[in-house]
Amino acid sequence: MLNVRLFEMEKFLNTSYEEELTSRLQEAQEKLQTGSGAGGEFTGWVHLPESYDREEFARILAAAKRIQSDSQALVVVGIGGSYLGARGVIDCLCSPNYNLKKKSTPNVYFIGNGLSADALQETLDLVSDVDFSVNVISKSGTTTEPAVAFRFFREALEKKYGKEAAGRRIYATTDKARGALKSLADAEGWETFVVPDEIGGRYSVLTAVGLLPIAVAGVDIEALMAGAAEMMRTCARGGLDCPAWRYAAARYALYQAGRSVELLACYDPAFRFMSEWWKQLYGESEGKEGKGLFPASVDFTADLHSMGQYIQEGRRLMLETVVRLGASDSELRVPRDETDGDGLNFLAGETMDFIRDRAMEGTLLAHTEGGVPNLIVEADGKTPAALGQLIYFFEYACGLSGYLLGVNPFDQPGVEAYKKNMFALLGKPGYEQRRTELEAKLNR
Ligand code: PA5
Repeated sequence: MLNVRLFEMEKFLNTSYEEELTSRLQEAQEKLQTGSGAGGEFTGWVHLPESYDREEFARILAAAKRIQSDSQALVVVGIGGSYLGARGVIDCLCSPNYNLKKKSTPNVYFIGNGLSADALQETLDLVSDVDFSVNVISKSGTTTEPAVAFRFFREALEKKYGKEAAGRRIYATTDKARGALKSLADAEGWETFVVPDEIGGRYSVLTAVGLLPIAVAGVDIEALMAGAAEMMRTCARGGLDCPAWRYAAARYALYQAGRSVELLACYDPAFRFMSEWWKQLYGESEGKEGKGLFPASVDFTADLHSMGQYIQEGRRLMLETVVRLGASDSELRVPRDETDGDGLNFLAGETMDFIRDRAMEGTLLAHTEGGVPNLIVEADGKTPAALGQLIYFFEYACGLSGYLLGVNPFDQPGVEAYKKNMFALLGKPGYEQRRTELEAKLNR
């Protein structure tokens, strides 16, 4: 089971901080469990690992099988919460080099997560000579980036297969009733999957949003859900033994003590997009009303050679949360070299994990000594079940953290500001007045 360790916390916090926060954690716990806090209508993810729609789950597995049998590539179109979770899980469990590997499952390309013409063209080129399907994902059904990208891939599919056959290769994951994508899917007869009303984008990885692409990549999604369900039961009990309580309490106490940045670190490069998912989860949930830890991430040991200097000796503004994934799949041992020209024979015969773990311990001691508090999240391994635990743990701790902070952890009003300006500057009908004002500002 996943575990949270607080390393030498007494150096940074009064040892009674957990007890002092107990009643507030209990209040936050009740809000999450009963959906009675701010944004409570978006707490559908709390019971999801147990209450998910089995009929839809079976359709996801069937669709994944169909895509695996008729496609060499799946293009996943989505952004933010409709993108990062699936990418994080596939990278972590199948490798960031998944598309380059020899395998029996389709390549998975992610697009619609930006507005780069080059990225779009490159992905169109990558699928031009292969059979492919498209999973377009948008809860609102109106987000500009995926909507624009989808036009290109829909056109490419229709050119390749004709309209009718192309329709059998489009899978739309969206609201059950509303939005342009839902209307389009119904009109065209595409297979649809639902983003439940009561689950916001950044908490949706364990719905069809994440599950379909993850299943296409060959990951055991039943094990993923089982791991999440195990953590759900632990979190439902709450208490100071609960890892989500411990993590939420420590990061909140450190925030109150003046820390303003949380660095998520992992020693496995495959975790990079899980960190991106985590940044959205915490950034959008807490960063409002002038509050919240700024979530940042580093890949160790690579970033020890770039960001390490700042972490060790720069402004003392951060805390560090290190995710430890445990033993690697490959047991590589350092070869012996008779000449020992590089002086590395003292490591000959040692595993790479042994060397990595000493780097991890050395860094923990150095950074703590340098004044950076370290929280350690020990995952149960690098398996679907362990990742299911980790995902639910971070989601639950995020909900608790938002309530401790006194914000609504389930809205994201700030995301609208750039969209309104972009629509106005693009000449979207209804934004004429704003366009005039903005253009005047830009030309000043
Ligand atoms: O967390 C959120 O709500 C956002 O990041 C959304 O996931 C993102 O904007 C994509 O929205 P949609 O799924 O409606 O296209």
